[in-house]
Amino acid sequence: MITDSFETVFGSKPKIHGFTPGRVNLIGEHTDYNGGMVLPTALELGVSLALSPRHDNKIRIWSDKFDDFAERTTSDKVTDHWSDYIVGAIILANEQGYFEGGADIAVETTLPFGAGISSSAAVTVGILKLARDISRADTSDKDIAVLARRVENEFIGMPCGIMDQMAIAIASPGQALALNTETLDFDLVDLPHNYHMAVIHSGQFRQLNEGRYKERKEECDAVKVELGHENICQISDAEFAELEGLSDVLQRRARHCLTEHRRTIEAVTCLLKHDINRLGELMNESHVSMRDDFEISVPKVDTLVEDAVKFGAVGARQTGGGFGGCIVACIANDKLETWKTRLLEAHPDAFWVA
Ligand code: GLA
Repeated sequence: MITDSFETVFGSKPKIHGFTPGRVNLIGEHTDYNGGMVLPTALELGVSLALSPRHDNKIRIWSDKFDDFAERTTSDKVTDHWSDYIVGAIILANEQGYFEGGADIAVETTLPFGAGISSSAAVTVGILKLARDISRADTSDKDIAVLARRVENEFIGMPCGIMDQMAIAIASPGQALALNTETLDFDLVDLPHNYHMAVIHSGQFRQLNEGRYKERKEECDAVKVELGHENICQISDAEFAELEGLSDVLQRRARHCLTEHRRTIEAVTCLLKHDINRLGELMNESHVSMRDDFEISVPKVDTLVEDAVKFGAVGARQTGGGFGGCIVACIANDKLETWKTRLLEAHPDAFWVA
């Protein structure tokens, strides 16, 4: 129990504790900073947090995942340490007036790091929700997600979109969050009961991910300059044709954005109509687009995705920021066990996440 761990480490009971899930994105990748749709769902796995505010400016953090105990302050900057996300969230909690000063914090997680299932967003959303609840402020979960994104964008310097934070703040397992990232309007759509959205780590831990994510963001920024507006995802075919003056690479980046957005809209319709075969096809097409147009896949992930489909999944694709990490595959419950065994046997580096 997180409360017991907190008491063992800090010698008193925490003021508040809670759990925030990780997320897996079913479809709609790299659309969330280009005005498009995303379709993530929350996982059963996640982060347990316990917190007591302090009257001084110290932030003391214990985590079951790391050997070192972090001692930071509310005037710290980013230090490339695992505790940065928590420090950034506490600084924003102060800025919002949720409390004044530092905090003692214990963290226990069942989320693998570097897997593309948002351990960092689970921590920032979780801390901000606890801080809000302590102060009884009426900040909505949507606004908590917006604040948590600011921790990444402004404090950490990671130019991510809003998908992870919204999924974690709002969705529950068994439901997908159909989110319009331009307006932040959303619907919660039930996932089919007779299928499982399996999350499998490729064994390729993401390297240089942030650098390459920024590179893609900058490429999209160049497309936006040419378009004269921010919304690559919602351009028409005619507007896309007008991008012919751009380099081949930039045209392919734009094509991924607009086709992925359209696939995601169709995927929502498939869920509503229970057309799981078409949903699977869309997942497969999404992977091809990430591999060939957005170029964020790696060979190890490509073969895992191929085999996932060959061995019986209705669809499979890389999920998250890219360059390694996890795949998500849609598999009928009655095939799940044999499929999983076969796939993991064929890919000894891969491992089951959810
Ligand atoms: C990371 C980012 C998200 C999103 C995905 C790609 O998870 O944090 O905002 O851009 O990559 O879809």
